[in-house]
Amino acid sequence: MEDSFGHHISYLRVSVTDRCNERCRYCMPEEEQPWFAKEDTLTYEEMTRVVRVGATLGIKRIRVTGGEPLTRPGIAGFCGELTQIPGIEGVGISTNGTLLAKTEGGTTLAEKLVKAGVRTANVSLDSLDRATYQRTTSRDLLPRVLEGIDAAIDAGFDSIRLNCVLMKGQTERELPALIDFARRKNALLRFIELMPVSTQDVLSEDNFLPIATAKQLVEQTTGPLIAEPDFKTNGPAVYHRVPASGQRVGFIGAMTNLHFCENCNKLRLTCDGKLRPCLGSYLEFDLRAVLRGGCTDAELAAFFQNVVARKPKEHDFRDNYQPNRKMIAIGG
Ligand code: 5AD
Ligand code: SF4
Repeated sequence: MEDSFGHHISYLRVSVTDRCNERCRYCMPEEEQPWFAKEDTLTYEEMTRVVRVGATLGIKRIRVTGGEPLTRPGIAGFCGELTQIPGIEGVGISTNGTLLAKTEGGTTLAEKLVKAGVRTANVSLDSLDRATYQRTTSRDLLPRVLEGIDAAIDAGFDSIRLNCVLMKGQTERELPALIDFARRKNALLRFIELMPVSTQDVLSEDNFLPIATAKQLVEQTTGPLIAEPDFKTNGPAVYHRVPASGQRVGFIGAMTNLHFCENCNKLRLTCDGKLRPCLGSYLEFDLRAVLRGGCTDAELAAFFQNVVARKPKEHDFRDNYQPNRKMIAIGG
């Protein structure tokens, strides 16, 4: 599928739940809001069907997200179904890491995911300092996340990425420890600019730390980083290498990188069945109504193509965008 701006759409993020066992300040709305009712959330069968039809249209990679996807029962089985769909070449998961080491019947959730064919795990890790971690996520779960990362390593994912959201006045002092930790764990560390995707006062200029500043701060410990313009994962991250160790570090600059949207290959499916052509746009289309209205696969495919045709050139974040929707329900 190609949109009107030449973006080739091959990647679908599937949010399986809006529920989460953490409360990150930049993700959750200020006031407690009710979760979606179970009947408003797509079933795994419905999601699998959407992915199957998407795969016939050129969707090749899936990232399962949340809320926290590992809070939804049966998640490994669902991921396993996705990996079996013809045309799907890779399934990854984005998690806060707190449940990766959880064991059932002697097997960790991380092992179950790897057995199901999930190849990459993206784990959110904003801080290695327990108090800071607790302040950011409102939960004292850093030790569990660290166990989760070890469980993921033991389980044998092809790659583990650590995602750190940059927060001014906080992340600066964490950078050397995060880099050292990622190197020791052989994980790919990425720094992400804070995006205005909720209605929180934390999402203000005062807390914004641009990737350029983060890079300069990193270089104070590592020396000048070496740009790697040709290294790409599946997203908009820009990668550099630490000269001494060869360690790779990524920077995701949704706000300051003006080329951010140029190679966008993504669509998003929210857990309540909306198809979103862009994280940073109000646009969303009610796939659930079509699905539950008894549509054929051909109608579903036409729906997909329509959404792709409406994909904007780039996100609206820089124009004071507010999504009217909490990040936790979009899935990052
Ligand atoms: N800005 C940037 N990243 C965010 N995430 C959640 N909210 C925001 C935000 N406002 C990230 C999480 C996680 C991923 C799913 O999205 O840290 O790594
Ligand atoms: Fe939960 Fe992830 Fe949102 Fe934090 S960023 S509240 S871990 S969904």
